[in-house]
Amino acid sequence: MKILVTGSHGQLGTELQNILEKRLPGITVYTDSDILDITDAKALEAIIQKENPTHIVNCAAYTAVDKAETESNLCYKINTEAVATLATVAARNNIKVLHFSTDYVFDGHSYTPYSESSKTNPLSTYGTSKRKGEMVLLSICPDAVVVRTSWLYSPYGNNFMKTMLRLGSTNKELKVVVDQIGSPTYAADLADAVFSILMSRQWVPGIYHYANEGVCSRYDFAKAILDAGKITDCRVTPIATADFPTDAERPLFSVLDKSLIKRTYGITIPNWHDSLLHCINRYYNNITD
Ligand SMILES: NC(=O)c1ccc[n+]([C@@H]2O[C@H](COP(=O)([O-])OP(=O)(O)OC[C@H]3O[C@@H](n4cnc5c(N)ncnc54)[C@H](OP(=O)(O)O)[C@@H]3O)[C@@H](O)[C@H]2O)c1
Repeated sequence: MKILVTGSHGQLGTELQNILEKRLPGITVYTDSDILDITDAKALEAIIQKENPTHIVNCAAYTAVDKAETESNLCYKINTEAVATLATVAARNNIKVLHFSTDYVFDGHSYTPYSESSKTNPLSTYGTSKRKGEMVLLSICPDAVVVRTSWLYSPYGNNFMKTMLRLGSTNKELKVVVDQIGSPTYAADLADAVFSILMSRQWVPGIYHYANEGVCSRYDFAKAILDAGKITDCRVTPIATADFPTDAERPLFSVLDKSLIKRTYGITIPNWHDSLLHCINRYYNNITD
């Protein structure tokens, strides 16, 4: 087994590197845009010929949800076109692909958790680019695994947890939307699930949903972040999404049904609040692995 990880400096890529280097040292090649730009077909082909991986874990993505509304070409180039290129190279070289997508493929009109077969209807450029990426990957590589996740955070990069901790320590009040309901996902937990899939005796292709157990609003999440971060002099005030306009429209409800990944790969998923406490402890104590 030899693994090629793309986007290895991102949140998920970094957490995956932490796990793989500890549990399976020496069998993975880690790349980010400085070493391998996944939009560069020739560079992709060259690294495949050089490294001869059995698996590609594609953590590379364009993830700036609001900016994507004004940078749609770049967003589609990375999230759709590059995924098609990667799929073509993988299919030609008989490589298994593990790829990631998002709860933003849904429109949020449901009242019950979305299953993998629920109808998609992305509201944003980012969501559309990711849905197209899923479809093009599975059409070229029917043997691929796609894991949709939601509200990803970690000690690395830019994410909601770090933004709330930063703003909470410099403001007396934070207004956070209370009508967006979903499940936070600790990137370290998702990386652990990725490890389980890679190590599984059976590789079962298709789309899967993964988020931490439990459900909350963005407001609940923000409040839990400040509580866990022991930030006591900042009040979190609930507001409506309608009162907090953003460039990209987000689904109001994006809870994912995770029963398929749990059943297929024997994965146990931690509760979002327990994982948040773990992540904040690591972040505050500068524990990077
Ligand atoms: N973040 C979330 O809340 C969230 C929610 C649901 C699903 N997801 C999905 O989960 C996956 C992992 O997300 P993440 O939060 O870990 O993303 P991230 O932190 O934004 O990391 C993405 C990585 O991809 C790299 N990258 C961008 N363009 C590239 C290119 N052309 N070639 C090679 N690398 C490139 C970036 O490198 P540079 O910094 O150098 O550009 C970055 O290191 C993605 O598929 C994302 O769509 C994320």
